[in-house]
Amino acid sequence: MSYSSVKLLDHNRPIIVFGCDGQIGKALQICLKNHSSPVVFLGRLDCDLSHEIAIIEVLERYQPKVIVNAAAYTDVDKAESERELAFAINFKAPAVMAHYIANTPYGAFVHYSTDYVFADSKQSAYFESDSVGPVEKLSVYGQSKLAGEQAIQEIFSRAHNLRRVSSHEFSRDELSRFFILRTSWVYGGGSNFIRTILHLALEREQLKVVSDQVGAPSSAEWLAEISIQIARSRVESGIYHAVPNGETSWHGLATFAIKTAASCCENIQFKPENILPIPVAEYPLRVSRPYNSRLSNTKLKNILFEMAFIREYPHWQEQVEAYVKDYVKTSFEI
Ligand SMILES: NC(=O)c1ccc[n+]([C@@H]2O[C@H](COP(=O)([O-])OP(=O)(O)OC[C@H]3O[C@@H](n4cnc5c(N)ncnc54)[C@H](OP(=O)(O)O)[C@@H]3O)[C@@H](O)[C@H]2O)c1
Repeated sequence: MSYSSVKLLDHNRPIIVFGCDGQIGKALQICLKNHSSPVVFLGRLDCDLSHEIAIIEVLERYQPKVIVNAAAYTDVDKAESERELAFAINFKAPAVMAHYIANTPYGAFVHYSTDYVFADSKQSAYFESDSVGPVEKLSVYGQSKLAGEQAIQEIFSRAHNLRRVSSHEFSRDELSRFFILRTSWVYGGGSNFIRTILHLALEREQLKVVSDQVGAPSSAEWLAEISIQIARSRVESGIYHAVPNGETSWHGLATFAIKTAASCCENIQFKPENILPIPVAEYPLRVSRPYNSRLSNTKLKNILFEMAFIREYPHWQEQVEAYVKDYVKTSFEI
């Protein structure tokens, strides 16, 4: 891998957002609208991440100081038959980005990962320090996301070790950092579980929703905000579990979303008691989803409080309530 030797002045080096048309990508566009540094938003048509050379060209052209990678191969079922493509986007592409930032002074790389790197080995919330895998029990999507995480960590560790033993070209403060934000059940702009349930509530009299899978719905808007805060801070590199407080099942989330929608929109007449809880066994999918998607957010919470970024940490219910009210107002009311 080689990069251009013509270096931009530090203040001209932009933030690059890959995957700007996805749920988190769209939230990043809003969040970074009035940002003081230049920002470049890239979608699939601007840079196809399945081609390593296309990524290198983009990095050479823009020489970013910060990369936020919101792009991913996210189709869990299809990944089983498109293993190579899933690995190209979820493993090779972030590795190229990590390599660039790891060798850039003051750089930051924000990447997103998932609870799918765990294989239901625990009944309680996973900590960042818990063992991942085992790989053979993970879906192809989970394996590709895990390979991406591991590549990023190895690339940064190698680059920093090299600097320590060699020229000291960068001081410790100048060393670039990476942040892998593992999250779950993301909702934002675009199709997602909450929007699907709200639309079904307009059409049907009864719904059946899985009640034995547990996790925390995470707002794309909130993830975008904390991503930028962390990238700008001197927070230590590492994996952080980025989910709000609290937990629920898909059934709990559906019930809460419909109750909230009904409370503010008279078009929604659906009775929440008509959402029937079912075990996942009654809703078979090609790839089984984790029963336990709980991620402990203590590490992230501590750093956000420590850095004085927040006074209160959000609960999933307050975020879903705001999201549903806003969505209903813009989409359901005449
Ligand atoms: N959604 C969840 O519930 C969830 C849960 C845990 C973790 N995460 C992680 O969070 C991150 C963002 O998720 P999200 O829900 O925002 O995903 P998303 O809505 O599916 O967006 C992914 C984006 O990646 C882009 N992309 C896919 N293949 C590409 C390629 N070859 N070249 C360039 N761009 C490509 C897609 O482009 P197109 O718009 O053109 O398709 C899309 O805009 C991912 O890392 C994901 O693994 C998500």
